[in-house]
This record gives sequence, structure tokens and C-alpha cells, in this order.
Amino acid sequence: MRKVVPSVLTNDPKELERKIRILEQLTDTIQIDIMDGELVPNTSIKANDVRKINTSAKLEMHLMVRNPIEYIEPYADTIAFRIIFHIESDDNPEDLINEIVKSKMKPGIAINPPTPVERIMPYLDMIDIALVMGVNPGFQGQKFIPDVLSKVRKIKNKRQELLIEVDGGVNPETVPDLISSGVDILNVGSYLFKDDNVENNWKQMQHIINQSSS
Ligand code: DX5
Repeated sequence: MRKVVPSVLTNDPKELERKIRILEQLTDTIQIDIMDGELVPNTSIKANDVRKINTSAKLEMHLMVRNPIEYIEPYADTIAFRIIFHIESDDNPEDLINEIVKSKMKPGIAINPPTPVERIMPYLDMIDIALVMGVNPGFQGQKFIPDVLSKVRKIKNKRQELLIEVDGGVNPETVPDLISSGVDILNVGSYLFKDDNVENNWKQMQHIINQSSS
């Protein structure tokens, strides 16, 4: 069953809470973007900002940071159930996966458009999800890069049961190709908040996914 996971990219703790309060009415899983201004040219809210918000939704943390090892323990005691780090970060992927599992969370690896998919192949059996970036990360509202769809197919061929999430540039126009390439989870940011009708936009995404899946 394919799923939409909304993402919140912000540096403002008030906007973080505002968006989580809207999204927790629509879904049980929300992705929070964490950026250090080094791995990506942008910065975001911090672990303490997340910890202050008591939400019914499960949170997956998308760590767009150079040293993810420093960002695991701070989320271990909040409601983060999954930690996704970038294969482009400086830390050793196996060390990161072990640390995330030891902290009782599920590990995921994200891969940027220019990075060859071979870089994450050695770890597919150790992770819960592969996050294939549809844009160069750091900002919302960017145009989807269709070349990344071949990565989705290659990962699916290598490990059929692994969850694959695509993040960046996901909207009704890109959904059909994403579905046909085998994506399981569609991560959506700016499309949901393009106007005040978030619930309507959410329903539109669900409708186009159901249409594309039949
Ligand atoms: C990209 C972030 C994405 C972003 C998606 O830098 O990692 O999660 O929030 O936003 P849209 O859906 O607007 O591309």
C-alpha cells in the first residue's frame, strides 16, 4: 500500500509546531528535515525544538548533516522512530546504522541525485528504508529530477522488500512515474502547503496515487 509522508522543512520553531498540528490530523507519520548548513546550504530547527512538541504522529528525522553521528542520541528519547542519514555524510554508514539500531530506532539512508546508486548497495540489507532524493536537498519547491527513477528501479531489483521513499519535487504531475518505477512512500513538502487548503491538497495527492496504482 503506497503512502504519502509529508515533510516539514523550517528554521522556525513556531512554523514547525503549526505544520505538525495540521499534519497530525491527516497522517500518522511526518518527516522532519534537519539541516546543518554544511552538507546542504540551509539550516533548520534543532532537536530541542522537536522535543517540545508532543504529537500523536510518528516522526522520521531526515538528517541533511555532515556528521549524523552527533544527531542520533538527541532523538533517541523523543518520538523519532526512524533516522535517515545521507550516504554523502562524513561518518561511516555501518557505524551510523549500528548506533541508530542501538538507540531503538529504524535506520534509513538518503542518496542525492548526483551520487551513484552503487554507493548505498552494500547497506540495503541493514536498513529499513532508502530515501531517493528527487532534488538536490536543502530547499522545498524545487523541480523533480527524473533521472533518479532509475535508482528506484535498481534498488527494487536488488532488494524487492526494502521500502523506497522519494523526496523532493513530488506532486500530482510526478506521481505516475514514481508509482510505475516502484516507489513505496512519496514524501511531499511544498505541494501540501502551496495554499491554505492543506487537507484538500492531501486528498488530491491520495486520489492521484490511487488512480496511478490501479
Ligand atoms: C529537500 C528536502 C525535502 C523537501 C521536499 O531539501 O529534503 O524533504 O522538504 O519539499 P518539496 O516536496 O517541496 O520538494
